[in-house]
Parts: sequence; C-alpha cells; structure tokens
Amino acid sequence: MTDVTVIGLGAMGTALAVALLKASQRVTVWNRTAARAAPLVQRGATAANDVRQAVAASPVIVVCVYDYKASRAVLEEAGDALAGKVLIEFSTGSPLDAREADRWAQNHGADYLDGALLATPSQIGRPDTPIFLSGSETAYRQAETALKAIGGGLMYRGGEPGAAAAWDIAALSSMFGMMFGFFHGVRVCEAEGLSVSAFGDMMGQISPVIGEMVRQQGKSIAADNFANPESSMAICAGSGTLFLRQAREAGISAEFPTFADGLFRRAMAAGLGEETLSSMVKVLRG
Ligand SMILES: NC(=O)c1ccc[n+]([C@@H]2O[C@H](COP(=O)([O-])OP(=O)(O)OC[C@H]3O[C@@H](n4cnc5c(N)ncnc54)[C@H](OP(=O)(O)O)[C@@H]3O)[C@@H](O)[C@H]2O)c1
Repeated sequence: MTDVTVIGLGAMGTALAVALLKASQRVTVWNRTAARAAPLVQRGATAANDVRQAVAASPVIVVCVYDYKASRAVLEEAGDALAGKVLIEFSTGSPLDAREADRWAQNHGADYLDGALLATPSQIGRPDTPIFLSGSETAYRQAETALKAIGGGLMYRGGEPGAAAAWDIAALSSMFGMMFGFFHGVRVCEAEGLSVSAFGDMMGQISPVIGEMVRQQGKSIAADNFANPESSMAICAGSGTLFLRQAREAGISAEFPTFADGLFRRAMAAGLGEETLSSMVKVLRG
C-alpha cells in the first residue's frame, strides 16, 4: 500500500505527485499515456498497471485529468475498488459537475471531496498555494496531510460538494476580468510607446489597493448598501466613454472599452448613476 494515488499525470497531476513525493508521501501513479509515469517512478513513485490497481493501492485517490467526463471514464474502470476510499477530484469543472461526481462516488462507496487549485503547476507545493475544497469533512480530515503537501493555503468551504467549484469560477472570473483589462492597458502603453514591463510591475505594486477596492464592493453588495458613493456610477461611467474615445484616437482594439462602456450605459439607463459602482451587480441580476 501507498499513502496517495494520483490519477492523471499531465502538467498539473505531475506537479501534485512531485509535491506529495517531496513531502515524503508514498505515491502510486497512473496515466492514460503510461510513459508519463516514468519520471515520477525515477523519483520514487510506484506505477500502477491499470486504474483498478491504482485505486486499490492507496486510501486517498487524487484525480487530475482534463475534465469530469474524462475522470468518470477513467474511474468507471476501477469498479468496486473505490469502496471505502477518499476520492479527491482536482479536474476543473462546474458546481453541478461536483454534485454529480459526489453522488456517483457515494454510489460506489467512496467518500468524496471536490477540489479546485488556484495555482499553476509551478506554484503547487508552496505554503501559500490556494486550494478550495468542499464535500465530505471526514474525507477532508483524512486527507489533510496529503492536501497540505499539495498546498498550504487550504480553504475548506463546507459540506456542499459544489462550493469549491463555485469559489473557483468566481475567483477565476475576477482574475481573468482583471487580466483582460490589463491586456487592453498593454495596448494603450504600446500605442504611446510606454514600457509594458514597467506597466506590469506597477500593477503588481498597486494590487493591494485594488484588492481593498474589491473587498469594499463585496461588503457593499452583501449589505445591500449602494448609497453615498465616494465615486458614483456616473463618475465611473465616464471612464468607459474615455476608454472608447482613446481607443479610437489611438487606432487600437476597442473590444474591452466597448464591453465596459456597454455595462456602464446599462447601469446609467437603469437609473444607478448616483449609486456606488457595486450597484453594477443589479444590471447583471437583470
Ligand atoms: N495547468 C494549470 O495551470 C491548471 C491550474 C488549475 C487547474 N488545472 C486543471 O487540472 C486539470 C489537468 O490540467 P493539466 O494542466 O494537467 O492538463 P494537461 O497537461 O493537458 O493534462 C491532461 C491530463 O488529462 C488526461 N486526459 C485527458 N483526457 C483524458 C481521457 N479522456 N481519459 C483519460 N485521461 C485523459 C491526460 O492524459 P494523457 O497524458 O494520456 O493525454 C493528462 O494526464 C484540468 O482540469 C485543468 O483545468 C490546471
């Protein structure tokens, strides 16, 4: 027997297996393309011949493949070997995927934990690597040592299996929304002959200030309090108009300004001009 089995040895699954090995966990690995196990075997992992053997080898089974469909296809091959195991799904999916996986795992006698890794493979295994988890608390406690090896920033979000995926999608939306704005900012810099590298550095430096603004928006929405803005929606909407005008003047892509300006226009048309920026959520609520 080993401590943990890792199924799926792509970039992320390999990083998970390496982190577990570094933390002195005994690890069994399996991948559809068997050759990907070889470097891990050199580092001390045991390669299983098939999925059933991989699942039988450890009490904790970590799966990290392309998506939940691929995961289900693989795990179906394990048969009754899953009974009594802790099954942790790290493939990316929706809350509904997670709830269905939980039901499926329970029907096969496994204790299910859904996980979402808010990190790239090279960030796995750090004391601050953020990991969202939800589902069986017993499974969480049983797998805690292995999970801590994967990342120190464990955030258990409760027994509802879909919670980790929901947090993941909410966090990724925030991150990519910011990134799309950043890429437009890069085009602004390029059009004006400014250093893109310095722009990236500056945004990194001011990210705590942006984080503080995000925190305030969350509190305002949670309290349903959109009054007395320091910076009203009408003032913010002026930025949308400015983005569009500058893009036209510079002859750069207006895709991001058009998106932002469209939302601001809808907020203004809905009569939110004197409310806080956070009232934008009312536009999205419809
Ligand atoms: N990379 C990241 O930065 C990152 C960050 C957070 C979350 N994730 C999530 O982690 C998961 C894996 O990502 P990755 O970066 O490791 O991807 P990857 O390098 O492309 O590896 C994909 C893995 O899935 C396996 N796979 C795909 N389809 C399969 C199928 N039908 N049956 C069996 N195995 C199948 C592949 O096996 P073969 O080797 O046989 O092709 C490989 O092990 C994804 O859900 C991804 O969203 C990744």
